[in-house]
Amino acid sequence: MQDKKKFYITTPIYYVNDIPHIGHAYTTIMADVIKRYKTLMGYDVFFLTGTDEHGQKIEQSAAKQGLTPKALSDKMVAHFKTLWKLLDIDYNHFVRTTDTYHEEGVKKIFKKVMEKGDIFLGEYEGHYCVSCESFVTDMAQDSGDGNKLCPDCGKKTQKVTEKCYFFRLSAYQDKLLKFYEENPDFVTPKSRMNEVVSFVKMGLKDLSVTRSTVKWGIPMPGEENQTIYVWFDALSNYLTAINYNQEDETFKKYWPADLHIMAKDILKFHAVYWPAFLMAADLPLPKKELIHGWWLKDDKKMSKSEGNVLDPHILLKFFNPDAIKYFMMREASIGSDGNFSHEGFITRVNTDLANDWGNLVSRTGGMTQKYFNLNFDSQAEYTQKEKAIEGQYIELEKEVVEFFDNYQFNKGLEKIFDFIGRLNKYVVESEPWNLAKDENKKALLAGTLKTLIRSILSINSLLSPIIPETAQKIKAIFNYDSPGLGWKDPGEKFQINEVLPLFPRVDIKDFFNETPKSPNAESQKLEKKDEKKTGKVDEKPPVSLPDGLITIDEFKKVQMVVARVLDAERVPNADKLLKLSIDTGTDTRTLVAGIANYYTPEELKNRKLIIVKNLQPAKLRGIISQGMILAASGPDNRPYIPIIPDETPIGAIMR
Ligand code: MSP
Repeated sequence: MQDKKKFYITTPIYYVNDIPHIGHAYTTIMADVIKRYKTLMGYDVFFLTGTDEHGQKIEQSAAKQGLTPKALSDKMVAHFKTLWKLLDIDYNHFVRTTDTYHEEGVKKIFKKVMEKGDIFLGEYEGHYCVSCESFVTDMAQDSGDGNKLCPDCGKKTQKVTEKCYFFRLSAYQDKLLKFYEENPDFVTPKSRMNEVVSFVKMGLKDLSVTRSTVKWGIPMPGEENQTIYVWFDALSNYLTAINYNQEDETFKKYWPADLHIMAKDILKFHAVYWPAFLMAADLPLPKKELIHGWWLKDDKKMSKSEGNVLDPHILLKFFNPDAIKYFMMREASIGSDGNFSHEGFITRVNTDLANDWGNLVSRTGGMTQKYFNLNFDSQAEYTQKEKAIEGQYIELEKEVVEFFDNYQFNKGLEKIFDFIGRLNKYVVESEPWNLAKDENKKALLAGTLKTLIRSILSINSLLSPIIPETAQKIKAIFNYDSPGLGWKDPGEKFQINEVLPLFPRVDIKDFFNETPKSPNAESQKLEKKDEKKTGKVDEKPPVSLPDGLITIDEFKKVQMVVARVLDAERVPNADKLLKLSIDTGTDTRTLVAGIANYYTPEELKNRKLIIVKNLQPAKLRGIISQGMILAASGPDNRPYIPIIPDETPIGAIMR
C-alpha cells in the first residue's frame, strides 16, 4: 500500500502575556479546519500549535503581575489548552518554548548558523518595540521625545545600546529574492507576497539575534550572558516540535512544513527572517504561508489595548464550537479583515445553521419517521428531478473542493448553503405531505426522502471539517459513515434514528445580557470614566416616546408571515393544545397552540394563517413550539383566527 501524503500545518505560537481571545482562536480554528479537510482528502496531517514564552514582553508582564515568567507561562498555557479543548481543536502537539527539547533544538540551530559564519559579534544601537519584540529602523516616525514609534503597532519604542550577536541577514537579500521569484505562491494572498518582495528589495540590514539586557531567554551557547533573540527562538519551534534534535523519521517525514498560518502582523518574521535562518542552517524552506486579516470587533481592530477583545468562553456558554467555527470560516475571506458583531453572529448561526441546515435535516428525518416509521424497506421511484440532484451535487463538490484547496472557505460555504437552500425549496415544491396522502405515490415519496437523505449525507462530509461535531451527529442519525467525499448512498433498504435538534436555539436576551453589544463591557466602563472626567455626555440623547408608542423599527423586529398548516393533531393529555406542522415558506416547523377547544385538527389542515416567526421557542408539554399563531382574543379568551385570502403566497411578510 502506498504511504499517505503528509501535510504539516502550524499556527503561530502565541505569547503568554495574556489570555487568548477570538483572534487567536480564529487562526487555530482555521488550522483545525484545514487539518480536518486534508485528512478527509486522504493526507497524513501533523498539526502544531503552542506558546511563545521567552523575551522582554513576557518578562515585563510577569513582573507586573508579581509572578516569575515561568509561573505566568504555566498559568496562561492552561488557558490556551482549555480553550482549544472547548473549541474541539484537534492538534497533534502543543509546543512550549520553555520545553527542554525546544531549548536544546534552538541552541543546535544557533550553533549551526554560527559555525557557518553567519552569526558575528557587534553592537546594536537603535530602537526596540517590546510589544512586537522587534528592532525598529531609524526611518520610523518620531514619537516627539527622541524615541520612535513602532511602524507595525504604533507604540512607543525603547532606545537600546548593547553588545550582541548579529545574523548576516544582508547576505541573504538576493537569495531571498531569487526564492520568491521561483516560488511566487510562497506567500498567499498575492498582495502579501508583493509586500514581502518590496520590503526585501528596499535592502536588508543584519539582524541582532541575541540580547544582553534580556535575561528571560535561552542562553546563547558559549556566551552565557547573552540570550537568544525571542524571534530566533520562537520560529525554531516549527523544527524542534517535530524532533529536529534527533533528526529522526518524524522530522524527515514532516519537514518542510506545508503550511504556516498567521495574520499579517507577523509576516516579515515568517517570510523574510525565517527563510533566511533556514537557508543559513541548510534546511529546506516551508512550502507555503497563508496570511489572513484581522478580526475586528464592531469594525474596530480587536486588541487588548483597544479594550474590545472578545472572550470566546462567553460564546461557548451559549453555542457549540461548531457555531463559532462556522461563523468565522463563513464570514472572513483570507485577504480581508472580518468583523465580529453579536448581531451578525446570531443571524448567521440562526439563518444558516439552525434554519437552513438544521431544518433540512430535521424535516427530512421527521418525515421519514412520520411516513416510514424511520424504516425504508420498499422500492423507491425517482423522477428526472430526483436524478438531477445527484449531478448537481457532484458539480457543487468540484467547485467547493477547488475553493477549499485554495483556503477560500467562505466561498465554498456560500456555495454549499446555496445548495441547501435549493434542497429546502425542493421539499416545498415536491410536497411530500401531499404524496403521503396517496397510497399510489408511496414509492415517489420514498424516492423524494431518499434523495434528500443522500444529499444530506454528501453535504455532511463536505461540511465536516468546519462543523465536525454536528457532522458526527448527522452520521449517527442516518446510521451511515463512509470515508472521503462523493455522492453518498446508504442503499434502498435502511433505517434511521430519531432526529434531535442539531442547533438548539439560543435565548437571545440571555446572550445579549451576557455579551453587551458595542462596545464591550470593559470599554464601556472606561468610557463612563472618561465622561466623568470630561463632563461630556452622549451627543445624541435617546429619543423618548410617549408611553405605549413604539418606533417603526421596533415594530419591524416582529417577523409576521403567512404560513400554511401542513398537519394538525391534538396533544395527548392536554385538552386545550393542538400541535401544528407549519410551512412558513422557508421552513417547516412545529407550533403548539392553545386553541383545541375551538378548532379541530381537520378544519385547520391546509388553512393559511399568520404566525410570528421570530418568537423565542418555548417548550409546551415537552414539545418545542417555534413561533406563535396570531388570533384575535374574544370574550373568555376565545380565539378567532383571521381568514387569509387564498391567493396570498406562503411566506408573505405582514407589514
Ligand atoms: N509569538 C508571536 C508569534 C511567534 S510564531 C513563531 C506572536 N504571538 S501573538 O500572540 O501576538 O499572536 C499573533 C497571532 O495571533 C496573529 O498572527 C494571528 O494569527 C493571531 N491573532 C491575534 N489577534 C488577532 C486578531 N484580532 N485577528 C486575527 N488574528 C489574530 O505574534
